[in-house]
Amino acid sequence: TFLGLDVGTSALKGVLVDHEQRLLATASADYPISHPGPGRAEQSPTLWWQALETVMAELRHLSPEALAQVAGIGLSGQMHGLVLQEASGESPRPAILWNDGRADRESRELNRQLPWLGERTGIGAMPSFWPAKLRWLAQHDPAALNEASHLLLPKDQLRWRLSGEWITDRCDASGTQLLDQAERDWCDDLLAELGIDRERLPRLVEGSEVGGILAPSLAARWGLPEGVIIAGGSGDVAAGAVGIGAIDEGDAFLTLGTSSQVFVSTEGYRPRPDQCLHAFSHALPGRWFQMAAMLTGASALDWAAKLTGLSIEQALALAEREPAGPVGVIFLPYLNGERTPHDDPQARGVLFGLTPASGQGEVIRAVLEGIGYSLREAREVIEGAGTPIERLAVIGGGTRSRYWLRLLASIIDRPLVRYRDSETGPAFGAARLARLAVTGEPMATVCQRPPIDEIFEPDPTLVERYAGAYPRYRELYRSLAPLFA
Ligand code: XUL
Repeated sequence: TFLGLDVGTSALKGVLVDHEQRLLATASADYPISHPGPGRAEQSPTLWWQALETVMAELRHLSPEALAQVAGIGLSGQMHGLVLQEASGESPRPAILWNDGRADRESRELNRQLPWLGERTGIGAMPSFWPAKLRWLAQHDPAALNEASHLLLPKDQLRWRLSGEWITDRCDASGTQLLDQAERDWCDDLLAELGIDRERLPRLVEGSEVGGILAPSLAARWGLPEGVIIAGGSGDVAAGAVGIGAIDEGDAFLTLGTSSQVFVSTEGYRPRPDQCLHAFSHALPGRWFQMAAMLTGASALDWAAKLTGLSIEQALALAEREPAGPVGVIFLPYLNGERTPHDDPQARGVLFGLTPASGQGEVIRAVLEGIGYSLREAREVIEGAGTPIERLAVIGGGTRSRYWLRLLASIIDRPLVRYRDSETGPAFGAARLARLAVTGEPMATVCQRPPIDEIFEPDPTLVERYAGAYPRYRELYRSLAPLFA
């Protein structure tokens, strides 16, 4: 059996998978994000540990026999978070997460000073990534930064608790923006610019290699055997890719979780920082990917449902009842600022074109459409960067709604493929990485595509109508950009 653990932004998920790649048990435990100021997002590592304890207890309750046979653990996690850790294991301050926009000034400064950054690290500086965060900390919390003997990503903080080792994989390491992508090694020139010693960074392994052994005391406490291998694992988006077998050139998918991404695997390193695209190392050796990363995904629907006092199901049902085709209201989904395509941490959500007749249904439909337009724009940016996308797989909690997927297929203008158990996404991919690390099987054998659950084809009439409305969506941000600044 293999255990996949995904340290997400809003929950930690665990899945147990057998040798036939069947799901034996799943468990999950939620935690909050704190927003200690506008545009800021933090989490204390203690929350992840408590959630892990809950998940392990639940899995033990559900399937003690499977846990007793675990041969490997794979870790996946929210990317880009910066965890400061002292040698004792204490964190002098909460982790600064991927959707934190405080280091805006610092990232602009870095892009001016280090024009080579995008080509070397796969993306220009942005507040999500470590160079900008480290500069911000050096300025605003130097004591915490200096006290930290180690700088870690969220899932690797958990790995340290599980194994006592400071290790990361090359995909998640890409998300720090300290990795030289072509070399798949820490970028010494950048470390020198930032005044960071290599010793403070975790050791690098591939996602499918061994990256630690579970501590015997924890194995005993949770009912696992001794000597369980922990795989390198990966950032959540690439773990999701491994889970649905998106590992070959041109394999594309979109994710609808707290954030959303359009992702395509590439067999070489193809940076396009000018397009705000991320070109990062994949979870498997010798592979990279291109990714458009949007800071708001299905969480915009959660926000709208909460605002209107509806459940997600009720909100979706109201949206579906609106007449087919684009509604009059346009929603810009930049609740957390935006990375691709704008690189604008100051951007904000907008509802445009309201009338006295705009009811809950129209507004919620506008939110669903706005996310759709942002995914269409992402698809166009990737294709503009030279990687054609014929169809997209879908993963993440937002893909539960068949209605939304039908709508998205028409707005994005590509067929969408939903695989069975697509919600387990990154945790399932992490379990596959564990299997690769333990058995050494070929990646093509382990990373097969799961059985198809449903294909959502674009509706030609709606495609035309949404294509007609889309330019107004694009123009709206461009008109408002000076006001966000
Ligand atoms: C990817 C990104 C987020 C996090 C959180 O670039 O910023 O999706 O991985 O899930």
